[in-house]
Amino acid sequence: MRDWLGLTLAVPPALGEVASALLFEAGAQGIWEDQPDRAGRLVFRAGFPLGLESRLMAELPAGLVVACESFSEPLDSVALSMDIKPGEDYSETWKKDLKPFPVGPRLWICPSWWTEPLKPGPKAKILKIDPGPAFGSGRHPSTFLCLRLLGDLVDQIAPARVLDVGSGSGVLSLAAAILFPAAQIEGLDSDPDTLEVAAANLKANQLADRASFSGRALSELEPGYGLILANLTLGTLTELAPEIRRLLSPTGLAVVSGLLADQTQALTETCAALGLALQRHVGLEEWSALQLAPASPESSGAGSGELPRELVEGPLM
Ligand SMILES: C[S@@+](CC[C@H](N)C(=O)[O-])C[C@H]1O[C@@H](n2cnc3c(N)ncnc32)[C@H](O)[C@@H]1O
Repeated sequence: MRDWLGLTLAVPPALGEVASALLFEAGAQGIWEDQPDRAGRLVFRAGFPLGLESRLMAELPAGLVVACESFSEPLDSVALSMDIKPGEDYSETWKKDLKPFPVGPRLWICPSWWTEPLKPGPKAKILKIDPGPAFGSGRHPSTFLCLRLLGDLVDQIAPARVLDVGSGSGVLSLAAAILFPAAQIEGLDSDPDTLEVAAANLKANQLADRASFSGRALSELEPGYGLILANLTLGTLTELAPEIRRLLSPTGLAVVSGLLADQTQALTETCAALGLALQRHVGLEEWSALQLAPASPESSGAGSGELPRELVEGPLM
């Protein structure tokens, strides 16, 4: 396991949501909220791949300055530090905060090391996940919102092919494999370290014949996916939107996440211009996820407007 960059950010409580969003936007592969410090500040610890040091030190302080100004907090109320952590410590750091939780009546997500008994309902299957150094325990709001939309789609669609763009730990791919038993899943990630993690989770859940993970580019893929999942960031989603549109079957659905609530209008407009209409907008804390589908020819322009943001409850355990 490679060494990684551990970043610690302490902020006044008013800046909590924006701080976690800034870390996510900056490419954090794991974000963990520690105990508040003596001054009562919220303390976030985040893991990043090595090599991002100078970019982070250029971008994060700029975002924090804007946040302090917006919330009228003094600049010295924020503290940022980073150091290099040895690879083997990484997964241990996140483990203590992770607990099993249900995603609707059909699925539970459970950390693979969990030993206490679970009582899922009679129809529920348990997906065991060890995110290791990859993003994707399932508990981050951006992932949880995708899981919620997937759970709600179970009786509505039966995709034969599912694409998971930015598969991380494989949590969305494997959830799709369980929820849609006829589907073959393809997970892609540009970070090669995540592919090992996703493959291990695939094996641990005896789903090896249902999904595969690779670093392939979207441009290499043939169209016809009945469901495309993408938990990324606004910038990456905007860049990949034309490829996602090309790959989606005419009756397919795309579930995109990793957006802050105030970023959804921009992505909705990008998608509408490509012929993808907004069907559903769900939110949890400051995060939003969208369900999109190819617009019918007669509904020109439809789907570019706002839909009510449905607030959902987070993981219940
Ligand atoms: C926020 S994580 C999502 C992980 C998991 N799907 C989940 O929902 O928890 C985003 C993942 O996308 C990957 N990623 C970022 N940009 C990408 C791109 N252009 N193509 C493929 N993967 C990308 C990152 O390496 C990371 O593993």
